[in-house]
Amino acid sequence: MPDLAELPHCEACALSRSRTRVVIGSGPRAPGLMVVGEAPGRQEDEGGEPFVGRSGQLLVRLISEELGLARDQYFITNVVKCRPPQNRTPRVTEVAACRPWLEAQLAYLAPDRILAVGNVAAAAVFGFTQGIGRTHGRVGHCGGVAGVATYHPAAALRGGPNVVGVMRADLQVLRSLEG
Ligand code: URA
Ligand code: SF4
Repeated sequence: MPDLAELPHCEACALSRSRTRVVIGSGPRAPGLMVVGEAPGRQEDEGGEPFVGRSGQLLVRLISEELGLARDQYFITNVVKCRPPQNRTPRVTEVAACRPWLEAQLAYLAPDRILAVGNVAAAAVFGFTQGIGRTHGRVGHCGGVAGVATYHPAAALRGGPNVVGVMRADLQVLRSLEG
């Protein structure tokens, strides 16, 4: 497993050439929850913090309202730690190159539960390949840790209150898992 101290300098895939910063993630060790998104966007690439843009604000609010957790009470990161150019979807090869870092974080942090947001995270974390429209709300496992997949908040920003309602229901499934 790679040494997490090396993550800020990783050049294991081509995204290292276009990024400003590696967005490692933030939050406590041994959290009740680890949230895994897709990849950093522009604001995250510049600031080094995950989920600080509009999507992030929505996600943080829903987790607060449904799970009663403030942002500093869970760990939040992405499948791919460097921003893809023009926010394109990360390639399968990039997800594979970055996966050892996610595994190292899981082993180091030892969260109780995982929330995977969006198609890319649901596939990379839980192996759900059918698309989030079918797999949201489903319970999966990663490295022995149980969790749930839900829509990416960017889909909710595009899709409106219906998607937000589905995300709330998915968070209730997460909440119902024995912790
Ligand atoms: N979208 C993501 O998936 N992750 C971020 O950090 C920001 C936006
Ligand atoms: Fe390394 Fe992941 Fe960044 Fe690629 S995306 S350079 S594998 S940290």
